[in-house]
Amino acid sequence: MKKIGGVGPINAKLVLVGEAPGAEEESAGLPFIGPSGKFITECLRDNGLQRSDVYITNVLKYRPPDNKMDRIAELGIDLVQQTLELRDELAAIKPNCILAIGNTALEALCGKHGVKKWRGSLLNSTLLPGTKVIPTIHPAAALRGEIKLLAFLRADMHKARLESAFPGFESLPQRTFVINPSFIEVIQALDRFESASVLSLDIESIRDTDIVTEIGLGDCPTFAITIPIFKGKPCWSIDEEKEIWRRVKGLLTNPKIGKVIQNVNFERNMLFQWVGEIYPIFTDTMIGQHLLYCELKKDLGTIASLYSMEPHWKSDRDADEYNVKDVSVTQECAEVMEEELKELGLTGFLHGYQVPLSTILWRASIKGIRIDLEKQKKYHDDTEKLCQGLQLALNQFLGRELNVNSPKEVQKFLYLELKLPVQRKAGKVTSDEKAIEKLRKKSDHPALELIIKLREARKALSTVFDPERIDEDGRLRTEWVITGTETGRLSSRKNIRDRGCNMQNIPKDVRDMFIADEGYSFIVADMSQVEARFVAWFADDPIYKGMFKSGKDIHKQVAAWIFKMDVDAITKVERQKAKATAHGTPYGMGPGNVAQLYGISVNEAEWLQNQFFQMFPKVKTHYQVGIQDKLRSGRTLTNPFGRRRIFFDWWGEDLFREAYASLPQGSAADTINMAMARAYYRFPKEADATPLIQVHDEWVIQVKDAYVDECARIFKEEVEKPIFVNGDWLSIPLDVAVGKDWKNTKGWGEK
Ligand code: URA
Repeated sequence: MKKIGGVGPINAKLVLVGEAPGAEEESAGLPFIGPSGKFITECLRDNGLQRSDVYITNVLKYRPPDNKMDRIAELGIDLVQQTLELRDELAAIKPNCILAIGNTALEALCGKHGVKKWRGSLLNSTLLPGTKVIPTIHPAAALRGEIKLLAFLRADMHKARLESAFPGFESLPQRTFVINPSFIEVIQALDRFESASVLSLDIESIRDTDIVTEIGLGDCPTFAITIPIFKGKPCWSIDEEKEIWRRVKGLLTNPKIGKVIQNVNFERNMLFQWVGEIYPIFTDTMIGQHLLYCELKKDLGTIASLYSMEPHWKSDRDADEYNVKDVSVTQECAEVMEEELKELGLTGFLHGYQVPLSTILWRASIKGIRIDLEKQKKYHDDTEKLCQGLQLALNQFLGRELNVNSPKEVQKFLYLELKLPVQRKAGKVTSDEKAIEKLRKKSDHPALELIIKLREARKALSTVFDPERIDEDGRLRTEWVITGTETGRLSSRKNIRDRGCNMQNIPKDVRDMFIADEGYSFIVADMSQVEARFVAWFADDPIYKGMFKSGKDIHKQVAAWIFKMDVDAITKVERQKAKATAHGTPYGMGPGNVAQLYGISVNEAEWLQNQFFQMFPKVKTHYQVGIQDKLRSGRTLTNPFGRRRIFFDWWGEDLFREAYASLPQGSAADTINMAMARAYYRFPKEADATPLIQVHDEWVIQVKDAYVDECARIFKEEVEKPIFVNGDWLSIPLDVAVGKDWKNTKGWGEK
């Protein structure tokens, strides 16, 4: 049995404590030098530290049999004894801060359980009282499954490094909370807030209802009040409650007070009936987190663990304390995030674009889209018939019934009966759409296509064609989510009242069920080949850019080059092939995928892709290779507007593909949404313009008939404003059409 002791300076200010050595550590005689150690070293380096700057040790100094902690008794070792030895080891070093890596270290140092919960918190050690401990995820846990957890290790190491600069708990916030206030205390606090420049807000409510139980308000990170409203019964007399709401409304709509809220649009929905629209918004911490770490979770617990010094409070459900902490922590995080965003040059992006856009989206979800209920019923009935037909065909193929919505049944069919390779998502077996699409390359069993089609049709029945998703006034109110995708594109989903639906994949031929209000029209504005244009500019490929600059049909030009034909002789078929190649190839899609997606042979797809790269070599050498280099040097891509994405996933081709697509997609989304944020405030008031739908590269804006031309012109002007990309100006043409529904539109200006 070999003892693996700690290593590092004996007066180190920062100490890292792990669980126990593994095989590599045992043979080398040093802690943390295996795969987990590699990540620890990387995180230290990212934080400007070397291994020799810190002291590294483990709770247990011996490798457990088979690395299993529950078998250490077989070595005759006692964890309590080992913990006491650890205490003496640490007491001799007297560090300012200890990074507790994983559960064993957290338990030994602080007597707490659940490192996922406690990670990132600043704790006082129970083993060595007075010493700061910051727990973090063990890299082995992340390496076994969720690789993105390593991002937290990096962030926690950063906090630990800062805390190691000084002893003591100065950074723990000293907050004043007013809990269970008298009516006078409530009024005093609300009076105080009248002169605030910013105000943070958090409400608590009874789940799945719109009953507000508490309103939390605070004007700085160190002062907050929770105003109880309903605790099984009303907390105030009718007049008192009226007065409280009147004052709260005054504050939440006071134009001089910027609101600081986590997930603004949720609070707006909940308080709408009491206070109207909460305005103006200074910042939304959820959007801030999306701009800083779009791949990480955006709930307040996660955000606080990254930007606040408040130890984890989320599971201690004393509702009053919980509420005031939410308020204070939101404001504390907003301040820290503001600094980080400033360093990245992103404060304008947040306050001038993202926050106003979230207001536009909220107004879209409140207004809702008028639905032609008869058409919806017709589509519903047609789709129901389609489902019956598809199910029948599937049953006939299989000689039995298969419930395509039961993952269990579908997985059994795919992996046990057809013996297809098992597909996994985040380590778990899956039979989702993506998995079945992949399997279709390995099997031409007709059931696979039927499963996909049936699932799609059933989904439409329970969403866009479901009359239950429509409000009583005949409008579909969908929630638009600004933080919904990692690329920066918007997403949409049903709202908190279970109405509305995801609008992103509504087929073109049923869009006539979305209709404009009487006296209004839809402006349907779509950017032309926007992603390909961004690829050409990112690649700085002169031929590709030249083709776009010529203003002629890009796919015909590409087809003419590929097939060595005259542009005018290009038919629909060749054009379609060129289009398919240009879509998938820059994003690293292989010939198999291109072939399957566009119904051509793999050989032909391969040939087309080779031609594409011969024609535009810089798409490979500059665009793709350039992205790989950027990922290698910091895993970060930044688009021309400053939006960044740090890629935390496993290294490899999948990561590259994700990155190749993410950059143009996010740039396209920012182009049109930023233009909307500018145009919205230019639309004349009388036009009553309401942007209602944003899908892919398109916005649908409802305006009064008489103002169609003016609003269309304003929006076109804003979208087409040149953008500086890679040393050159790029203007994205906007195709504008106008109609009384979302499907039947005419080109703007056409007679
Ligand atoms: N895991 C640990 O907890 N400690 C080591 O030293 C190596 C792996």
